[in-house]
Amino acid sequence: MSCYEITGGQALSGSLAIHGAKNSVLPILAACLLVPGQCVLHNCPDLSDVSATLDILRLLGCRADREGDTIAIDASALSRSDIPDHLMREMRSSVIFLGALLARIGTAELSYPGGCELGPRPIDLHLSALRALGAEILEEQGALVCRGGGKRFRGREICLSVPSVGATENAMLAACGCPGLTTIVGAAQEPEIVDLQNFLQAAGAQVTGAGTPTVAIQGGRALHPAEYAVMGDRIAAATYLCGCAAAGGEIEVTGLAPDTLTAVLACLKEAGCNLHTGPNRVALASSAPLRGISPVRTAPYPSFPTDAQAILMAALAGGEGATLFVENIFDSRYRHVDELRRMGADIQIAGRAAMVSGVGRLHGAAVRSTDLRGGAALVVAALGAEGVSQVSELRHIKRGYQALDKNLRSLGADIREVP
Ligand code: UD1
Repeated sequence: MSCYEITGGQALSGSLAIHGAKNSVLPILAACLLVPGQCVLHNCPDLSDVSATLDILRLLGCRADREGDTIAIDASALSRSDIPDHLMREMRSSVIFLGALLARIGTAELSYPGGCELGPRPIDLHLSALRALGAEILEEQGALVCRGGGKRFRGREICLSVPSVGATENAMLAACGCPGLTTIVGAAQEPEIVDLQNFLQAAGAQVTGAGTPTVAIQGGRALHPAEYAVMGDRIAAATYLCGCAAAGGEIEVTGLAPDTLTAVLACLKEAGCNLHTGPNRVALASSAPLRGISPVRTAPYPSFPTDAQAILMAALAGGEGATLFVENIFDSRYRHVDELRRMGADIQIAGRAAMVSGVGRLHGAAVRSTDLRGGAALVVAALGAEGVSQVSELRHIKRGYQALDKNLRSLGADIREVP
């Protein structure tokens, strides 16, 4: 079983261009289904989740070619609307194909994506949003059979009781295929929603309001081929910045809008890091041990992102002073804590709360990634720890990070993948 072998304590230095955002490229690839022609997407990261999405697009009859970080999708010859179970299981976010298939051909059959390593991840809001547009959805034995199209499928108001990222994206895609005006009230405001809107606009869709709680879509228009560059990955950027905060040193990350990281940067600053931002860049310097900070509560954007919770916790666990974390988005998002404890971390969990008492310095250990961001957190911890760590179960990390080891080596870290 391969692992990253990391010798901690090497200060990081240098500049790194951040790859495109996983959570943007997946819905945008699904959105390409809406276009009966070839779309060209730039800044697409090479991740296992992206490969799984391309497999689904090919199975549906699309041409999907990658050259470097550019992917061309031609959905002219879309021939199927069913996604087999094994591809649905590969990646929970494949549920986004529901809205895209309904918009383009009016039918979709896929299996229920079920739970994942973060605990139960229901799709009730996705389904009620699509039903609000007039789609008929039958749920039978783990399968979802959906029919849109026809007179009943038309623009309406959709109210989301929780600002779900995935449900907002699914509703946006489905609404593009519904004649009339759809208004999504209570929409998620994440930057990836804005990126999806920007792509859809480039393809000729009338979508406005992304980034606010109300998104409006004037649907039923034929879309045309578009060329688009995916936004930079704010969570990957947060990971490299937290790695430098933990290990010490001075790095710059480029290729992302700093205002998409405001909540994370505020925490790093409070912990004692020096930060400078400019257009499309963030520079961070860290020298002394990190300090404990005010409570970190995860919440929908623009509050602190759940995806950065484990990563920041890993950096602070090896600092000094106490920090309270409260995870409000997912139920099982402290699975990295047992692994951090193997490295000497002092973390007490009570329900949604985790109290981190900095121990000054973690020590190297053999640890196991439990999920994508939990795995990245272990790498962050290992960068700052004394001695050698082995981080295994890299398949989780490779779902969301392109060349994490190579990038960290370019910043001076002592990390290598061993078979
Ligand atoms: C997306 C991201 C994921 C990130 C999460 C929160 C992608 C591919 N994934 O996931 O990386 O961690 O946003 O920023 O972009 N909920 C329901 N019913 C639903 C849908 C969601 O109750 O039908 C709840 C969830 O359990 C959770 C909350 O809503 O408590 C937010 O989840 P959501 O924003 O939907 O997350 P994802 O879109 O799954």
